Amino acid sequence: MEARRTASGSVAPAALDPTNLPVHIAIIMDGNGRWAASRGLSRAAGHQAGVDAARRTVRACDALGIRALTLFAFSTENWSRPTAEVDALMDLLGRAVRDEAQELMARGVRIQVSGDLTELDAALREQIEQIVALTQPNPGLVLNIAYNYGGRAEILQAVRAMAADLQAGRVTGEIDEDLLRRYLYTPDLPDPDLLIRTGGEQRISNFLLWQLAYTELYFCDVYWPDFSEADLTAALRSYQQRLRRYGGVKGT
Ligand code: FPP
Repeated sequence: MEARRTASGSVAPAALDPTNLPVHIAIIMDGNGRWAASRGLSRAAGHQAGVDAARRTVRACDALGIRALTLFAFSTENWSRPTAEVDALMDLLGRAVRDEAQELMARGVRIQVSGDLTELDAALREQIEQIVALTQPNPGLVLNIAYNYGGRAEILQAVRAMAADLQAGRVTGEIDEDLLRRYLYTPDLPDPDLLIRTGGEQRISNFLLWQLAYTELYFCDVYWPDFSEADLTAALRSYQQRLRRYGGVKGT
């Protein structure tokens, strides 16, 4: 990493290169439970603090001019958690949609959702659909919330829908990557350039299995509620040191 000397003589890390920022960042926001336990708080309080970290991250990405941010907020596997925790997570999403709508509109943020909303409570689903519709014309950051999301489930529903369309003659021609992609939850979003996972684990956990094929991975130990703008900058600095080759040869 390039370093420069500050006026006081200490070495400061190089500033981020604004021409080499990821277009799309995806985040596995892990560590809410451990953050809460380390403070003697409930897991729900950890998730609430996680919403605050999500808000800070949206603001920071918006300020940097990042085009898209995907946040993994509830996985298809999270239903197996205690009912009280599942309820708290659902409540949090409803509350976040209500409380954040004004700021998101003011920032021109466009909300999208990746996941199967049919399994959610009808009122919550309607609330989500409303904010998606309301923010649809916005020109700014695309905030994609992965909710009741599973990577294998996404690919499976895409294959089923594609097969049905092929069988009915609604689509014709080659089955190729471009065709399959059209059936994914958010076909218009570019694949993430950078995946960040907080909380110390180093795995993908069924997240964006198709889309992460060439994504740069960044793991950090900080629990999600503590994730700060400085942590985001550290992830971006790491990203800017990577040479992305997409299976090719260095320098070509
Ligand atoms: C993983 O931490 C986190 C989740 C399962 C939920 C993430 C949800 C939020 C941050 C709040 C909702 C956000 C939005 C944008 C509405 P964990 O509970 O598995 O933590 P642990 O590994 O320490 O137990």
